[in-house]
Amino acid sequence: MSTTAISNSNLPVHIEVKNLVRAFDGRRVLDNISLKVHKGETMVILGGSGCGKSTLLRHLIGSLKPDAGEIWLLGKEITRMQDQEFAEIRKKFGMLFQGGALLNSMSVGENVALPLEEHTNLSPEIIDIMVKMKTGMVGLTGFEHLMPSQISGGMKKRVALARAIAMDPEIIFFDEPTAGLDPVMTAVVDLLINNLCKKLGITAVVVTHDMASVNRIADHIAMIHKGKLVFEGSVPQIHASTDPLVRQFINGEADGPISFQQSGDDYLKSLFAST
Ligand SMILES: Nc1ncnc2c1ncn2[C@@H]1O[C@H](COP(=O)(O)OP(=O)(O)O)[C@@H](O)[C@H]1O
Ligand SMILES: [Mg+2]
Repeated sequence: MSTTAISNSNLPVHIEVKNLVRAFDGRRVLDNISLKVHKGETMVILGGSGCGKSTLLRHLIGSLKPDAGEIWLLGKEITRMQDQEFAEIRKKFGMLFQGGALLNSMSVGENVALPLEEHTNLSPEIIDIMVKMKTGMVGLTGFEHLMPSQISGGMKKRVALARAIAMDPEIIFFDEPTAGLDPVMTAVVDLLINNLCKKLGITAVVVTHDMASVNRIADHIAMIHKGKLVFEGSVPQIHASTDPLVRQFINGEADGPISFQQSGDDYLKSLFAST
């Protein structure tokens, strides 16, 4: 469980989603979602495969536009923003998406340096210092010269994390940051995410379907089911919930209101949808 749970009402709101609606092919994938994330808080978006988690995240980072509703990041509404204005906001957030996507032709250090080279005019010497700082923060001092093919999956996630914090972001968005890791490595990466975000005061939105991760990192949880927000609250609150949907999810039971029947069409679509 997060050690520094935040009593959130006095802190500024860093992210606010208001009545967000998005349909694909006439089907509502996000159905009137509203939520708030306060400064320094870790919000976990929880839900089964295909419930709309990644779609929500892609709206939050401005890569998808909603059919209706608003998204406020750091006090500004982004869904109707011009590209140039959005580029300014974009510099203030980092992301770590499914797959991690390190560039395999570049070393660990070069991968971490990428956002700094793209978004700043800092000299190579300063970038070098910043890269060393960030790799140090994820426990990879001395690994800067290695290539992604030479390091383990868990280390790659840590490099991706170093890259996500390269620009000293105010917000980080994580889509299933521990996907594909074993339970021990998952715990290591969770701990690192928690430590970094708390130490640096970063607001975090973490998409996951893993209850163990939720227990370790969440200050606040939003659970989505079929595009609708079905629960919002703290870790103790989700464990105390009597909602059958929530109970089935946290207990990992096969029988319950969450149906595992999908149409073949949906299944194919979810296979081909990007993360
Ligand atoms: N670009 C798209 N076009 C059509 N359907 C999509 C697209 N992106 C996502 N979907 C559908 O929206 C639903 C939610 O997907 P997603 O947000 O990726 O789920 P999650 O991340 O919770 O597993 C899925 O049924 C998926 O097939
Ligand atoms: Mg997803």
